[in-house]
Amino acid sequence: MSKLKIAVQKSGRLNEDSMKILKDIGISIDNGKDQLKASARNFPLEIFYLRNGDIPQYLKDGVVDVAIIGENVLIEKGNDIKVAEKLGFSSCKVSVAVPKGATYNSVKDLEGKRIATSYPNTVNQFLDKNKVSAKLHIINGSVEIAPNIGLADAIVDIVSSGSTLFKNGLKEVEVILKSEAVLAVSPKISAENQKLLEKIQFRIQSVLKGQN
Ligand code: PRP
Ligand code: MG
Repeated sequence: MSKLKIAVQKSGRLNEDSMKILKDIGISIDNGKDQLKASARNFPLEIFYLRNGDIPQYLKDGVVDVAIIGENVLIEKGNDIKVAEKLGFSSCKVSVAVPKGATYNSVKDLEGKRIATSYPNTVNQFLDKNKVSAKLHIINGSVEIAPNIGLADAIVDIVSSGSTLFKNGLKEVEVILKSEAVLAVSPKISAENQKLLEKIQFRIQSVLKGQN
């Protein structure tokens, strides 16, 4: 019998809530996070623990059928990947921030500036829309350090509680987008696995309804 292949974040902010929602919908998983792949005991489901940034490509290629992932990652890398369900957790923003003391009146103030980010496509779209050109420094993590070490004038990164910005002496000046965890679907999902997905979605909808 066919199994639905689902990707979840291996470690990081989404991991815990992703595992919780699977538990809430009654799925019990054979082993913990040490393995990169696990099976559900009571549903035809295989769980793949993957790096966030790799998940959109796995969905595009049909290596996995579905994924629990931040909308912001899909927007950055996913383009044609469909969202089946918004999951109501891990809300965050993707925002522009500058040093607390910097003058910032409008997006035009970014003209010619150096922006550090892990979300180049999102930033470029935002800059294009506003007809501003800037120089991007692409870094994979700890982006908020960049202005302090003289690498950038501004950053674009995820803001959740705002504490990382605060600790690094930065202020949020633009919200580019708002995001939450979603259930994303591969364009290559088989008809058989689509049926399994519908069962999972039905259970998720019941759980989400119960929370409101
Ligand atoms: C994420 C994100 C921000 C921070 C936002 O970083 O890149 O830096 O969390 O959360 P906050 O507003 O609640 O402080 P993470 O700690 O996951 O590490 P990384 O940037 O090194 O991947
Ligand atoms: Mg960070």
